[in-house]
Amino acid sequence: MKKELIKKADISYQVAERKALDYFQSLSVQFKDKSYVQTLTTDIQTWRAAHINRPFFSLFSNSKRKAVSQDYHHHIAWLDKTGKLETYLDRSISYIFMRDLGKSLDSPEMQNRIDRSVERLKSHLTQTGKRDREEPFNMASLYRFAEKEGVETTLIWVMEKLKKVAYNIPEGMDAEEAQRKLIKIIAGVVMQVMEEMGDETPSEVRKQRLEKAIRLGYCYGLTYPFIDDLLDARILSSEEEKQYTDLIRTTLVMGTVPDLGEWPGNNKELIHYIHSELRDAFNYINANQSQETRKEFLEQSYVFFKSQELDRKKDIANGQYTNEEIYIPVIVKSASSRLIMRSIITASDDEDIDNRTFYYGIYNQLADDFADMFEDMEQGAVTPYTYYWKYHDQRSDLINPFELYWTVICYLIHHVYQSDTKTRDIILGRAINGLKRYKARMGNEKYNQIMDVFTAGIPAFNRLIQQMVRKADDVDFFDKLLRDHMIANLKKDRQEQDEFIDTVRKVRELINHSLPITGSDPEFFQKEQITAAANYSLEGDGKRLRPILTWLMGVSVYGLDEKKIMPLLKSLEYMHTASLIFDDLPSEDNASLRRGRTTLHEVYDIATAELAGLFLTQKATSEQSALDAYNSNAVLKMIHYSSQMTADMCKGQLLDLNSEGMQLTLEQLNTICYYKTGMAFEASLIMPAIIAHRGETEMDALKSFAYHAGIAFQIKDDLLDVEGDMVLLGKPTFQDAGNNHANFVSVLGIMGAKKAMWQHYCLAVEVLQEMPINMPFMKHFLNYAVNRDS
Ligand code: IPE
Ligand code: IPE
Ligand code: MG
Ligand code: MG
Ligand code: MG
Repeated sequence: MKKELIKKADISYQVAERKALDYFQSLSVQFKDKSYVQTLTTDIQTWRAAHINRPFFSLFSNSKRKAVSQDYHHHIAWLDKTGKLETYLDRSISYIFMRDLGKSLDSPEMQNRIDRSVERLKSHLTQTGKRDREEPFNMASLYRFAEKEGVETTLIWVMEKLKKVAYNIPEGMDAEEAQRKLIKIIAGVVMQVMEEMGDETPSEVRKQRLEKAIRLGYCYGLTYPFIDDLLDARILSSEEEKQYTDLIRTTLVMGTVPDLGEWPGNNKELIHYIHSELRDAFNYINANQSQETRKEFLEQSYVFFKSQELDRKKDIANGQYTNEEIYIPVIVKSASSRLIMRSIITASDDEDIDNRTFYYGIYNQLADDFADMFEDMEQGAVTPYTYYWKYHDQRSDLINPFELYWTVICYLIHHVYQSDTKTRDIILGRAINGLKRYKARMGNEKYNQIMDVFTAGIPAFNRLIQQMVRKADDVDFFDKLLRDHMIANLKKDRQEQDEFIDTVRKVRELINHSLPITGSDPEFFQKEQITAAANYSLEGDGKRLRPILTWLMGVSVYGLDEKKIMPLLKSLEYMHTASLIFDDLPSEDNASLRRGRTTLHEVYDIATAELAGLFLTQKATSEQSALDAYNSNAVLKMIHYSSQMTADMCKGQLLDLNSEGMQLTLEQLNTICYYKTGMAFEASLIMPAIIAHRGETEMDALKSFAYHAGIAFQIKDDLLDVEGDMVLLGKPTFQDAGNNHANFVSVLGIMGAKKAMWQHYCLAVEVLQEMPINMPFMKHFLNYAVNRDS
């Protein structure tokens, strides 16, 4: 039965192969007789008129443009100011319509759709008041978008999925890269669905379609890390690989995911996870398709999988591959991957689109393979470029992929898009831009060397191309700008995050070192029970977040001396530890585990715990009054503030305890939460600010940040109570439920609590965006607060 089905599926591969072969043959003819050179030379000469504007100042304008284009926001502002933004966006969006949707541009209806998209994007990009610091696709703006569309639940769902994917990515593969690819695919599906809906779709329908788009994007996107990349990375043993590829093949020919059965190798756990995740994904895609698109989906996926497999098996050491063996799988896989995407998002059967999509694939693939040639070479991958690079001296019969690339361009412009001028301009612009970017990346010398190899047979045409590469203006595209910008941002973000983690580690150590309470007579103090009890609690594995925040604020932002503010750091941790000792008492939360060890009242007794708590709060004040390096009025003011906060925290804790079993309103919840948790975070930021004599406006902003960050932190704590791991947390789970304790989860449910947490997250980010000082650590602190496991 399975054999029969494989045979049947192989027939669809043969159909695709046949079509690819026909296509390849017409390309070969034009490649051989060089007719594409003549046609494209005429095209480029017509096109250049609009793109080489300032012969006299071209040098000057180039260097100026380059400096400007380095910054995303400035570049867009510059385009706007010089009146170029609209054509820039039109060119960019039109290109995406062609590439991703298989559209032809020559109908008025299409131009209308493009105009609408350009208008929308333009107004988004030029919105006044948009902060320079606000980055596209940051979590807060994504969440705000989701709220506007009513799809927060799905966004939260997909975020958690992405986290799990990264967690499960095996060593030897890049977890971030996997996430990035998935996000790109999800965003692609969402944008296509949004564009197709236009503005008139009723909001309920819109919401459903967007939710479906996010889920479909995730489900389909999973195949990239867990099928293609996994197999490329050679993580599995050959026996495992065989069983795994069999599993995929069987799924695609049978239309259902078979059980996993016995797994032979070392990657059992990984494969179990992948199997269950891919099965859910497959079932979801299946359930959301029509009969027809399902068939198309399975067929094209099979074709794609098989062509990938053929490519993977190629060996760069084998010098005997024919041109067909090199190019046919490239045409087949690039076309089928696009057709799969189409089968996933739309039901509409459109042969023209299918055809254009089919022909288009290799154009992009050749551009990508060109850009990645040296990386591919390092990995020993066979692509048209790596193969030609290695064998062109020995094999005069090999087709030159760079020439074939231009042949494809010629074919697309004149055969597929019927010589439409706009299409011609966009494709030529994109190709020239690709070379410009490549040249900038490689440097002139290397670029020229590469060009010498690939253009040896077309010297005159090459001169024309290189002239365009040097001189053509207005060939840049928004998607590239956005991509560069996002990559640069991610890099910056990662650096800042690493710095943040480093600082946290360093400061935590510093604090841990200084916390233990000693006295003038160490021996007496060792025997003395209260100090020993307080030290027991302090020695536990606390995160030290509050003093860490104070250090970051005090030392890195306000430039205070680390040694001199040490008493302040200690006092914050003393107060916090005291609050935990009280919180765990039988009369309060009655907990037996804290910071990974038995709670203080269980090790000693309740009286000792109570007194140690009180002792620690007093120690805190005594540390504060030891801040003798600072203006005494400021220190007094700070102590006043701090005692007021401690008093208020007591009120909060009692409100919290008294709300047992009650159905609180959101407002009551927020208030209790601010009192019992938010205030301590506020104090961590405000106390150094008081010492550093900061102004009211800044203090207000810090308070507002701490309010939202603190609540987000406590909601996460409530969530960890039901979803967390006791070992990681170092405290019991299901405490709140056991105590019939009213918290965010009991009042709003798990999903409701998550939404509330992200809302506070967004509000906190928005406060930061409004602040004149840039404090990247605050963002990373916030990310940590909502993403932590302990
Ligand atoms: C626990 O605080 C009490 C809450 C406010 C939720 P932390 O989670 O910061 O506890 P430690 O200091 O790391 O133990
Ligand atoms: C603690 O809230 C608030 C304090 C600052 C004491 P919880 O009672 O939820 O804290 P955990 O979960 O016990 O750490
Ligand atoms: Mg409590
Ligand atoms: Mg508690
Ligand atoms: Mg708790």
